[in-house]
Parts: sequence; structure tokens; C-alpha cells
Amino acid sequence: MNKKIHILAIETSCDDTSVSIVLAKEKGNLLKGFKVVSNKMSSQVELHAGYGGVYPALAKREHKKNLPQVFKAATRGFDVNKIDLFAITVGPGLDPCLWTGINFIQEVLPNSKKLSVPVNHVEAHILANFLSKEIGEEEFSKKYLPAAALAVSGGHTILFRMEKIGKYELLGQTRDDAAGECFDKTARILGLGYPGGPQISELAKRYAKRKKPAVKISFPRPMLNQKNYDFSFSGLKTAALYYHKKQKPEVAGSKEYLEAMSYEIEQAITDVLVAKTLKAALNVKARSIIAGGGVSANELLRKRLGEEAKKFNLKLLLPKAVYCADNAAMIGVAAYFGYQRGEAVSDPNDLRSNPNLLI
Ligand code: KG4
Ligand code: ZN
Repeated sequence: MNKKIHILAIETSCDDTSVSIVLAKEKGNLLKGFKVVSNKMSSQVELHAGYGGVYPALAKREHKKNLPQVFKAATRGFDVNKIDLFAITVGPGLDPCLWTGINFIQEVLPNSKKLSVPVNHVEAHILANFLSKEIGEEEFSKKYLPAAALAVSGGHTILFRMEKIGKYELLGQTRDDAAGECFDKTARILGLGYPGGPQISELAKRYAKRKKPAVKISFPRPMLNQKNYDFSFSGLKTAALYYHKKQKPEVAGSKEYLEAMSYEIEQAITDVLVAKTLKAALNVKARSIIAGGGVSANELLRKRLGEEAKKFNLKLLLPKAVYCADNAAMIGVAAYFGYQRGEAVSDPNDLRSNPNLLI
């Protein structure tokens, strides 16, 4: 029998306020795939640009202000009584921001009789790949699992083995800055805007197109040759800072220099991410590599992962660009699986944030 489960999802863990309605389509109790009915968001990027990163108290205030409007936009023309499940990010993330979403579910939504599912944001970034193409759970498990999963964003750089959906083994993570944070911080050093990833990537592309670049810069690849699966990006940031400080003002502001710096920063970050992910995939005998998170939108990373996956006969899943960055649709997808695992709560007052939630 065909069945549709309507999920309303809320994401407020960092600087994006997002609300989405996702439909989980089942046939004979087996997931056939998801359909995104709506996925609305309000980004605070411009507000935080001046700080070069996210300022928690400010982010909370903005979530509080924006959530009712984003909710309205996401549910416009939709009968909210049809919702079967509420999904909410409970961690990891900024505590005041997480609570804004949780409180909204507790106070505002007419959900007294409906179940709420607490969602792990990192797991959701990886499960966003269920929105890459219509794929059922059976097909996903057969084709892609076990997988080496790489969650890369402004807040996380985590590598884990995915045995099945809901069964994860942490392989490694960053010991200091996340990959996205490194993009953002080095961009700030160079005087580029926030978020830094897309800007560095744009300038790097221009450098790659230069026929005979006069400037060549070389930075370390942190922890590249170590046996573990951990990452460390703060050394790269410091190397970029010292190098930049040594430049004469006329060089430091020049186009070619900024392009050369961006190119090397992007190459260094990508080299480490790709090498460690590939090593993990081969060592844990994965069938696939699955990536997610804001940095997985990076074109060079996508291309390099594609090349390595092909070389080693691994399958590869990358989210569509709109589902790489923070969004509530991925929270809806993860909630479906959390519900299947019995993680839903009947009283939303039982929901708690968990800012340091692990995978
Ligand atoms: O997943 P996300 O939207 O938020 C967090 O959960 O942190 O990721 C944001 C991060 C930022 O650090 C941003 O610079 C990075 O993703 N990012 C990129 C690109 N697009 C976004 N990094 C590299 N290349 C990109 N194209
Ligand atoms: Zn995220």
C-alpha cells in the first residue's frame, strides 16, 4: 500500500533559519523516496559578515525574529493539520540558536498530539543525499552501504563509516578549525567577504585559468600523511596569515596575489579532505563516498572526489547545491529515519538541545 508521511522540519542551529515540508513516500512500509514540498530560508550572512563569522547572541535574536515569517512562507497554501511529524535540529550547533527552534515547536505549533523527532544536524547533512535523486532505502543500502561519509561545513569536518542508516562509526574529525572555518578565516585575512568558501573558490578558478602565473605560493597539507583520519586546519590558517603579513601593501592588494593565495588555500584544504576520505573508504571497505555540508558545494572538491571514486571503483553521492548548505529539508529527511528508529517524542517539552552532539 502506498503511504505518504508529511514532515515539517525546522533548522536553526547556526545562522540560517529554515523551515521545510518534506513528504516521505512509502510503498508496503518501505521508503520509496522523498519529495520536498517547500524549503524556505532566511540567511543571516550579511549580518554576520562584519564579524567574519557567526555571533551567537545576534544569531538567536534573528532566528526569533525570522522563524515565524519563514514558517509562514513554508506552509503557505498547506493545511498544517496534515502534518504527521515535526522535525527539529537539536545539535550540534549554537545552544541559543538550537533553543529558538525547539521553543518554537513547544510554544507555537499546534502539535500537542503529534510526534516530534530530534535530529542530528551532521547526520542530516549526509542524508541530504536522499534529495540528490529519488532513491529508496533498499536501493540506497544495496548500492552505497557501507559508506565513508564526509561531513564538511563551517562547523564540522567529520569522517565516519556508515554501516547502515543510523549506525555510524566515527573515524576522525578536526582537532581545531573546520574546513569551512578555514575558508572563512583565510578569506578574512585576505580581506575577502564572508562566507569565504565561495569567494576563495572564485578567485582560485581565475588563477587556474592564468596561462603563466607569476606568483606561486606553497602551504602545508596538515596531517596529510598521518595514519589517523583526523584533520587540523588552524596551521594552514596561520601559515596564510604569516605569509600575508610579510607582503608589501602593493602586493597584498593585487589581483594576482589574491588569486594565487586563494588557489593554494583551496588546493591545500581539498588535498587533505580528498586523501583522508579516500583512505577511509578503502580501509573500511566502503562501497561509496557520501559527502555533505556547505563545503561539499565546492567545485574542486566535487571534481576531485569524482576522479578518485572513479579510479577506485567507488560510488559517490554529493548533495544538490541547494542542499549542501544548512536547510530544513535535510532535517525532514533525517527525521523520517529517526522516527523509524523510535526516536520521536510525544511531548515536545521533552526536547532538549545538545550543542556537542556527536555522530
Ligand atoms: O553547512 P553550512 O551552510 O553551515 C554549517 O553547518 O556550518 O556551511 C557553511 C560553510 C562556510 O564555512 C562556507 O564558507 C562554506 O560552507 N562554503 C564553501 C562553499 N560554499 C560554502 N566552502 C568552499 N567552497 C564553496 N563553494
Ligand atoms: Zn551545517
